[in-house]
Amino acid sequence: MNSYIKDIAYYVPEQILTNDDLSKLMDTSDEWIKTRTGISQRYTVGNTNLGPSDLAVNASNKLLNKLKFDKSDIDFVVFATSTPDYYVPGSGSIFQEKMGLDNIGVLDIRQGCAGFIYALSVADKFIKSEVYKNILVIGAEVQTTQLDFDDEGRGTAVLFGDGAAACLLSATSKEKGILSTHLHSDGRFIKELGTEYPSSKYKDIITTEDVKNRKHHIQMNGREVFKHAVRRFPEVIIEGLEFNNLKLDDVNLVIPHQANYRITQAVQKKLGISDDKVFSNIHKYGNTTAASVGIALTEALEQNKINKNDYVVLVAFGAGFYWGSVIIKW
Ligand code: UT7
Repeated sequence: MNSYIKDIAYYVPEQILTNDDLSKLMDTSDEWIKTRTGISQRYTVGNTNLGPSDLAVNASNKLLNKLKFDKSDIDFVVFATSTPDYYVPGSGSIFQEKMGLDNIGVLDIRQGCAGFIYALSVADKFIKSEVYKNILVIGAEVQTTQLDFDDEGRGTAVLFGDGAAACLLSATSKEKGILSTHLHSDGRFIKELGTEYPSSKYKDIITTEDVKNRKHHIQMNGREVFKHAVRRFPEVIIEGLEFNNLKLDDVNLVIPHQANYRITQAVQKKLGISDDKVFSNIHKYGNTTAASVGIALTEALEQNKINKNDYVVLVAFGAGFYWGSVIIKW
């Protein structure tokens, strides 16, 4: 049995936050953000109190309507987010209740920017081992509510956006779909990117000192993350291709996690692949973490960039560090 992406859809909240909007809140500029990251705007839930489960419901309903797929035929859900609605329980069960997916199993994945790759990988294994036939794979994120929208936070606040992607991974006996998945992590780098609070380690939920040190906001050593990303993206792409006896020339499209357009360009240069073989939409959405690969894949399909029998590579790297790739024959 093989698994293939039957279809995919995405949803972003209505409110747009442009670079000019951000430059009114902190010491930054449209020019700095565009030159250093490629981002022009991102979407935000603003003050709507929507969580990743809500964005995921909207993306999933779009998907099910598009496919005319009956939700009672979904066997399992894998839900990836690094910004869950609540501390406990995971967003998966909140999503399940909102979708009315009675009593099926739901698994939460917390692998940051690599979340969608990890989620697809788990779903693929459940299908290949013939446990389930149709799995809903979600990558959903609400980043903008935890960002530090003043001068101290400008190194991260300009990068992230909100959104969700929902994908139906289904069983097929045909020789197509996910060929392999390759997952990695390196916990030596946990301090380079993450949000420490809320934390179960400390008795006080958060102290004034912690707030002063901005521990409840995402912290990142941008240059270090950049350096590792540029190394790990190509490495895990090549690992996946070699596993399948494929060469870079065989690949029709690479869809990388949208972290920074400069990272994408550096990876592309390192591998020597042409512009038309690498998908980018970071200018519109910023970094939507677990949702980014799914949103990019949806847009690539909408723009007819993927055809039957094409080899497509999905790849991501982020906090943890976690990284991975998925090699697909479409
Ligand atoms: O999804 C995976 C996780 N994230 C990533 O992959 C992100 C990886 N890192 C990056 O994308 C880049 O490192 C950043 C976009 C975050 C930063 O770009 P950079 O070229 O590495 O800049 P930098 O951190 O070295 O900062 C250069 C200068 C500094 O000023 P000085 O020290 O040279 O005076 C920063 O204070 O730019 C300043 N700066 C800003 N200026 C205007 C930092 N953020 C901003 C800002 N606006 N938003």
